[in-house]
Amino acid sequence: MRHAAATPLAARGRVIAIASGKGGVGKTWFAITLAQAFARGGARVLLVDADLGLANVDVQLGFQPQHDLSAVVAGRLPTEEAASRHTAAGIDILAGRSGSGALAALEGGALEAVLDAIAGAATRWDRVVVDLGAGLEAPQRRIAAAADTLLVLATEEPTSLTDAYAVLKLHARDRPGGDARIVVNLAADAAGGQRTHAALARAAATFLKREIPLAGVVRRDSRVRDAIRHQAPLLTRHPGCAAAQDVEAIARGLG
Ligand SMILES: Nc1ncnc2c1ncn2[C@@H]1O[C@H](COP(=O)(O)OP(=O)(O)OP(=O)(O)O)[C@@H](O)[C@H]1O
Ligand SMILES: [Mg+2]
Repeated sequence: MRHAAATPLAARGRVIAIASGKGGVGKTWFAITLAQAFARGGARVLLVDADLGLANVDVQLGFQPQHDLSAVVAGRLPTEEAASRHTAAGIDILAGRSGSGALAALEGGALEAVLDAIAGAATRWDRVVVDLGAGLEAPQRRIAAAADTLLVLATEEPTSLTDAYAVLKLHARDRPGGDARIVVNLAADAAGGQRTHAALARAAATFLKREIPLAGVVRRDSRVRDAIRHQAPLLTRHPGCAAAQDVEAIARGLG
């Protein structure tokens, strides 16, 4: 993070990366909603869709960005010009692009350019939220390790738990002492989510010697599917619903 290192800490925004290992657990939806929650709290927020293979922030929000991350990687545009304003969500979005190749295929200079763009964005926005997409190949690991906070999404399904644990294990290796926290999504209720976190935290304490706090539990809520179907941000379409309350609590907890 060359830019970040050159910038006084007080002037820096916070980079929060969202990962899961397993696909389809709600990363993209959660990243959008967390970004919107920060914005409603008064922060200037940039959402980066780093899921280049299956970029879908734009699909979930139903907008067609004029530019995307590939323009930044190619050095054609600075991040602030490549980003698009999403008025309803109150956030800026640096779109990914299906077709520009998977993040996993980024190598050498392109990956460095993405890392530089994210570090540079932290000097201009208060919060930079990065949707890393599924899996944890080398480029995603690099971005996760460079973030100030890594949020690992898990559900109570066993495959999600083992994948979330794998993400935590790699992060412990890549960023010793780093800040990784768990978000349990699609929980039946808060208590169930806390049990899921406890199981993961126990494994991390025993085998990784790492304490992994719970960032929060997001309940399963039919309004989420409804908002996505209408390509509308949740906090605009269904403010105050259970999942909205849960994400807003997580945003407050992240400070
Ligand atoms: N809290 C929730 N309550 C109800 N449904 C949810 C919740 N979170 C996510 N979903 C559902 O899960 C689906 C998948 O979400 P999303 O596309 O954000 O997952 P993802 O982890 O980004 O997937 P991928 O790994 O393919 O990128 C959404 O279509 C949404 O309907
Ligand atoms: Mg996604």
